[in-house]
Amino acid sequence: MADWSDFIQQIKRNNDIVDVIGSYLELRRHGANFMARCPFHGEKTPSFIVNRNMQIYKCFGCGESGDVIKFVEKFESCTFTEACEILAKRAGIPIPESSANRDDKAYLERKKKRDVYLAICRDTARFYYRAYYSEVGKTAREYIAKRGFDEATVKRFGIGYSPNSFALPNYLQSKGYSLEDCVKCGVLSQTTSHGCVDALNGRLIIPIFNMQSQVIAFGGRGLDEETIARGKYKNTSETPLFTKKDNLFAINIAKEQKQQTALPNLVVVEGYMDVIAMYQAGFRGAVASMGTSLTEQQAKWLSRLGDTVYICYDGDAAGQKATVRGLDILDKAGLEVRVMTVPEKLDPDEYIKKYGAEAFDRLISDALPLPDYKLDLLEKTFPINSNDRAQRNNALAKYVKGALTMLKALDDVRQARYITAVSLKTGYSEDYFRRKLSENDDEEQPQSDVAEFSPEEKAKYFVAACILRGEDYASIEEKPLCNTVFLSDLYDYLLECKVNGVKPRPDMLYTVCPNASPEQYAEIIDVDLSKQRHDVNERYFGECRRLITVEKLKNRRDQLTKQIKNHPDDNTLLEELAKLSRKITEVK
Ligand code: UTP
Ligand code: MN
Repeated sequence: MADWSDFIQQIKRNNDIVDVIGSYLELRRHGANFMARCPFHGEKTPSFIVNRNMQIYKCFGCGESGDVIKFVEKFESCTFTEACEILAKRAGIPIPESSANRDDKAYLERKKKRDVYLAICRDTARFYYRAYYSEVGKTAREYIAKRGFDEATVKRFGIGYSPNSFALPNYLQSKGYSLEDCVKCGVLSQTTSHGCVDALNGRLIIPIFNMQSQVIAFGGRGLDEETIARGKYKNTSETPLFTKKDNLFAINIAKEQKQQTALPNLVVVEGYMDVIAMYQAGFRGAVASMGTSLTEQQAKWLSRLGDTVYICYDGDAAGQKATVRGLDILDKAGLEVRVMTVPEKLDPDEYIKKYGAEAFDRLISDALPLPDYKLDLLEKTFPINSNDRAQRNNALAKYVKGALTMLKALDDVRQARYITAVSLKTGYSEDYFRRKLSENDDEEQPQSDVAEFSPEEKAKYFVAACILRGEDYASIEEKPLCNTVFLSDLYDYLLECKVNGVKPRPDMLYTVCPNASPEQYAEIIDVDLSKQRHDVNERYFGECRRLITVEKLKNRRDQLTKQIKNHPDDNTLLEELAKLSRKITEVK
């Protein structure tokens, strides 16, 4: 345990929170703090604050707060241990053997397996890459040349080639991997007739990376008729590393691009080849949903990279029901969604080849905000301008119904704007829409009472907050009564610091109390001592400490009274009770 907590201290000392968060987000100085737009919930105006003194961050929009480790854990969607490893690497700190102390054995096992799978995927990608440049890779190279992709693009994406069924299994075995593991992570498939074979045999290989730029899966494009007949693309199936619907192809490139410069326009397309073509044409924020409808997980990845997402689907694919649902998921995640339309049913790759990058850039500029896009779609479906009166009225009714659904999902500001637009379009009054919307409004949820803290409880939070900040007057002799794990762990830490003669660190709050609620953290870190004069704070601290002491003494007195009931003749108990009662009046 000792080397683990030393390790954490070392990580924290060597990873200043402002520097670390600054490498992920654009931070702006704001008085004593730094500010950014919160990466954990969608917002237009920054309410995310990073404080260098306390080494913590807090979002006043969503309430999320934490230390440098928690930030990395959340941002990278990884475990606590992985976050520590990332930060250790960043600061060049060696990782102790027992670094998984914080997590259970099962986790350690999973992590070990995961590392093996990642190694297999990495070695497989290298194998394919070499094959692409070798004699056997000629067909693949010719195909790539025919599609107009250049050397730099091929290298950037790590494109490869699978020469046949058996070369890969032989290679992986020679590297010491078990066939079972290779099947588990999807690079080999088990057949009844030929044993384990390359899952993507004979195909052009497109490796799929995760946010941390690790290879987790592959897409394989058929190059000849016979292979294509079995599916133009074949992808790694579901594995412990990869679920198609939760990943986005090229998210690693968009992320790296963002870290190097600023993120260019984030564009979601359907296909691998669209992303690759766009990259070559200079659009480096392109990612592919790989042909499926968008999911919440994908929305999360995207919202970490930017706040506006352009959707560029083939033909009218964006208009399909399943896809509109996907767009709503992005909208709910706080992303500003804009829908592009590519003319002539071309996909982005074809469009760029035919009309060039500048023309494609104009499609981006012309993209419609999601509400406008939905209204467009409604208008295309219902002929509200028909000359036939009956038909027109029927269409209008349906259009209005669809518009109401759309309006309902909007925040107040946007709703007001679009009510005007829809009213102009339909001739229905703005009032009509407002009335309909308020009729449909769900009954206001009764405000659930937020659990109010008792004065003693409040005092414990204040006392802890002052000690944690190292206020000169702030110290306590013994642990108060703690009815929550949070307070108990926190006071254990504060007293441990006192015993060891070290200064407590505010950011350790998140390490020693890793599972508390945002409200509990807030009770400690929102305490703003600068609002009052030093002596006022000191006096208040004294009162709080007294309250806590009295509570503890009274609790002991109640215990004693009970014991005395059972042993009325025990003199030591009686003496202690008398002493206690005197003390209580004294302190009071
Ligand atoms: P497309 O057919 O639009 O792909 O399918 P593409 O990238 O334009 O392919 P090219 O230009 O013909 O080479 C979109 C995406 O759907 C998935 C792939 O991820 C593909 O990129 N898909 C498509 C499959 O998984 N399997 C298939 O058989 C086809
Ligand atoms: Mn295509």
